[in-house]
Amino acid sequence: MDVRIDGKVALITGASRGIGEAIAAQFLESGAAGVTITSRRKENITAAADRLDDSRVLPVAARADSEADANSAVAQTVAQFGGLHILVNNAGTNPAAGDLASVDLGAVGKTWEVNQLGPLLWARAAWGATMAESGGSIVNIASVGGMRVGPFIGAYNISKAAVIHLTRQLANEMAPGVRVNAVAPSVVRTRLAAALWEGVEEHTARAHPLQRIGEPSDVAYAVTFLASDAASWITGVVLPVDGGVTGAAAARGLGG
Ligand SMILES: NC(=O)c1ccc[n+]([C@@H]2O[C@H](COP(=O)([O-])OP(=O)(O)OC[C@H]3O[C@@H](n4cnc5c(N)ncnc54)[C@H](OP(=O)(O)O)[C@@H]3O)[C@@H](O)[C@H]2O)c1
Repeated sequence: MDVRIDGKVALITGASRGIGEAIAAQFLESGAAGVTITSRRKENITAAADRLDDSRVLPVAARADSEADANSAVAQTVAQFGGLHILVNNAGTNPAAGDLASVDLGAVGKTWEVNQLGPLLWARAAWGATMAESGGSIVNIASVGGMRVGPFIGAYNISKAAVIHLTRQLANEMAPGVRVNAVAPSVVRTRLAAALWEGVEEHTARAHPLQRIGEPSDVAYAVTFLASDAASWITGVVLPVDGGVTGAAAARGLGG
């Protein structure tokens, strides 16, 4: 990929596998000076750092829904690499399956804390440590589910709708120094979405105009562009990375 982020220091939450790990790999390939990767479990994030196998990677165990962990991970990043220019709020969870009228409220609370409060906690940590003064770029991982209603994962979709509005709100509040954008993926080949593609991949692929499901690298390319100076006049946008489903729904008059 030609888009470069040479010399930039990045922090990616939820990067022990899936989309987050792919973003870390792409950032390294695109010239990042340092990449902090975080996830809950020390053994998972250390294993990801071993796979990335690059001295520019700092693995940190940190929960996405903990303000103390966010502040600590940001401080460790600045201490190790001398700054922080890019934050990717990627960590996400989806334990709350079922209709909203009956789904377990504990699972709903966990989903909303990780997916929707988490990105605010990490944005505040980055803003307070360096970005308010030195500027930067934040990319949030939303979902096409945050733009329409659907069965079974209403609580998750609500959290992603909140991420979309958070993106626009923060873009407004943090301008002009910090750009804040989001990507909205459809079904991507990761553990989180396994129920939507394992054993049913052909069926799921057919629901996308581009006739395939997404790969983690598809999302990583879009995130790298939005994080980079190539997007320096773009803030507050939500970029669907979705094989065409959002455009197709809009063309049928179903909205975004
Ligand atoms: N895959 C899709 O189809 C799809 C579509 C739209 C949007 N997304 C979004 O893309 C993002 C990445 O998802 P993915 O598909 O790559 O999922 P994944 O493969 O399940 O990876 C999730 C990552 O988040 C970490 N994580 C989970 N809960 C955490 C917490 N409380 N605190 C810190 N880290 C946590 C996990 O590591 P540990 O287990 O080590 O903590 C893991 O590294 C999520 O925001 C998801 O909602 C995915």
